[in-house]
Amino acid sequence: MNVSEEKTAVDKAQEYYDSNSADEFYFKIWGGEHIHVGIYNHPAESIKEASPRIVHKMAKKLNIDEKTKVLDLGSGYGGAARYLAKTYNCEVTCLNLSETQNEKNENFNKQHEVDDLITIVEGNFEAIPFPDSSYDVIWSQDAIVHSSDRQKVVQEVDRVLKDDGDFIFTDLMQTYDCPQDVLKPVLDRIHLDSLGSFGFYVEQARKLGIQSAQVFDLSNHLTTHYRRVKEETQRRYDEMVETCGKEYIDKMIQGLDHWVDAGNEDYLSWGIIHLSKGEVA
Ligand SMILES: C[S@@+](CC[C@H](N)C(=O)[O-])C[C@H]1O[C@@H](n2cnc3c(N)ncnc32)[C@H](O)[C@@H]1O
Repeated sequence: MNVSEEKTAVDKAQEYYDSNSADEFYFKIWGGEHIHVGIYNHPAESIKEASPRIVHKMAKKLNIDEKTKVLDLGSGYGGAARYLAKTYNCEVTCLNLSETQNEKNENFNKQHEVDDLITIVEGNFEAIPFPDSSYDVIWSQDAIVHSSDRQKVVQEVDRVLKDDGDFIFTDLMQTYDCPQDVLKPVLDRIHLDSLGSFGFYVEQARKLGIQSAQVFDLSNHLTTHYRRVKEETQRRYDEMVETCGKEYIDKMIQGLDHWVDAGNEDYLSWGIIHLSKGEVA
């Protein structure tokens, strides 16, 4: 991939998340602090209840304490960073290209009195602006999907992660045998050409000589989540049209339908990938 293509993918993600309509939509419909797939205890549960569960599940897989330095890639409104800082009293750096989201993140951190533990940096995770071996844990939720060079992102993570560090992330992915043409309507919603897969990330880890790669397939929650987002958008249709505009909301509902359909066909995957550079017990 050449440099101009890389710029296009990053620019598109930035434009997408910085727009007023997207900010209002994600903030209001997703429930405020989180913009990722949730873990649902029952199919009609609220997005706000389901969203934090994945953060808790990921955190439990790590040994974080007050000395752990965490980097969150594509940190959105900083929901995970605040949870980690409050729970473990650890330092978290949020790297995110959306200025709009970073401002909200900063305000929340002040309100929650964790701004001394959380640093927000505007930047691109395809070229992480930090030195080699500087973090114990690199964390990311449903963000690497936006890259057109996911191999580069994993290489950058490997560079910035300490020798015994952990990289834990979730991503919106495709199943490995999914026919490519069926994904076009799904990808159009997020302006992308392709998705990663569990197999792709495990292969990248092997190429980098990473000791352990664990996969936790939680794909069943993906379809529930997108169905719940669609239902919530329809339930608050008039309010959302007033905030984001009719064209944006109608297109969003159509796009969400494509994600639900592809999920029902088992074309999409979602779950936790935990790569450990150090020895695993
Ligand atoms: C679906 S949101 C997830 C936000 C957050 N991780 C969460 O779970 O609430 C995707 C995030 O990735 C960020 N992002 C996308 N491409 C990025 C890039 N190349 N560098 C840094 N951040 C990026 C967006 O700004 C957005 O915050």
